Amino acid sequence: MKAMQFEVDGPLTWADAPEPAAGAGEVLVEIAATAVNRADLMQRAGKYPPPAGESEVMGLECSGTIVALGADVEGWAVGDAVCALLAGGGYAERVAVPVTQLLPVPEGVSLEESAALPEAVCTVWSAVRDLPEPGPDALALVHGGSGGIGTMAIQLLRTRGYRVAVTASSRHHELCRALGAEIAIDYRSEDFVDAVLTATDGGGAEFILDVVGADYLRRNVDALALDGTLTVIATQGGTRAEVSLGRLMQRRVTLRAMTLRARPRTGGRGAKSEVVAQVREHVWPLLASGAVRPVIGATLPLADAERAHELMGSPQAPGGKILLVR
Ligand SMILES: NC(=O)c1ccc[n+]([C@@H]2O[C@H](COP(=O)([O-])OP(=O)(O)OC[C@H]3O[C@@H](n4cnc5c(N)ncnc54)[C@H](OP(=O)(O)O)[C@@H]3O)[C@@H](O)[C@H]2O)c1
Repeated sequence: MKAMQFEVDGPLTWADAPEPAAGAGEVLVEIAATAVNRADLMQRAGKYPPPAGESEVMGLECSGTIVALGADVEGWAVGDAVCALLAGGGYAERVAVPVTQLLPVPEGVSLEESAALPEAVCTVWSAVRDLPEPGPDALALVHGGSGGIGTMAIQLLRTRGYRVAVTASSRHHELCRALGAEIAIDYRSEDFVDAVLTATDGGGAEFILDVVGADYLRRNVDALALDGTLTVIATQGGTRAEVSLGRLMQRRVTLRAMTLRARPRTGGRGAKSEVVAQVREHVWPLLASGAVRPVIGATLPLADAERAHELMGSPQAPGGKILLVR
């Protein structure tokens, strides 16, 4: 088969690759579409290798049709339209997927569009699933509300009963508001701590989902409500920061940090199999009812993955996910 290949910091080329085979508990999927994640850009730069034993090909999610079943597969059939959470292998013609990472294409979503769902939904679900019930008028702050993660987070937090504030470039504020954000803060020109405290009469945000990391740590603590939760899922603004433990104690802060790709396929709480099963139970009905939808800012052919990567890293990034269709 063909897959998108690369040398570190070199161009992408659509070239021959080993044909994947469905092992026990896996199916082979003929890929219809995949979606771009920042992890792909990092992998290409040699900074984010796949977990041991997983495909070396980029691509953390895909949609397509099952074309073969491995041993011990029940509940799925050749011809089923699916989308899947992957540890790698989405930028290709075919990929072998553990059945525990398969999801049916949700009602009301096209086969291609569904490729934009697994990574964002599973990441955001992992970050919000254990949150306490929000208080009346509780505010959640989503940093990077315009991104693939942020556009999903706004929607899921709204369904959980939060008012939502986002940080994003001002050109993306309309998109965030259309998805349910009440407050949009331009991170280049506004102070998000002031904006959050003003919107909550000084109380702060009960939950903050952060994709910036070190640069925002102290200010995130200042913007949190008493007993609030800060969950860090990315470090676009650095990995090391100093924060006063005394301040965390006074504010009774819950600080969490998480990543999805490195999780084991199976093995109980927090494994990919558990996250995907919960997503199917709790989020798939929200997609079917239209309460949540995939947000796709641009669609390009998989052959143009190079252009898609340039777009994601550029000031012209469209907001939402960038879909790559075959
Ligand atoms: N932990 C995990 O398992 C996991 C899973 C998936 C993704 N991630 C990470 O999460 C991050 C977001 O992913 P994504 O798919 O949403 O990427 P994306 O679509 O490229 O979005 C990046 C977002 O960051 C915003 N941003 C950039 N600088 C910012 C700043 N200083 N303050 C606030 N927002 C800022 C951008 O806003 P504008 O474009 O509006 O300027 C954009 O919304 C990435 O770093 C990704 O690697 C982690």
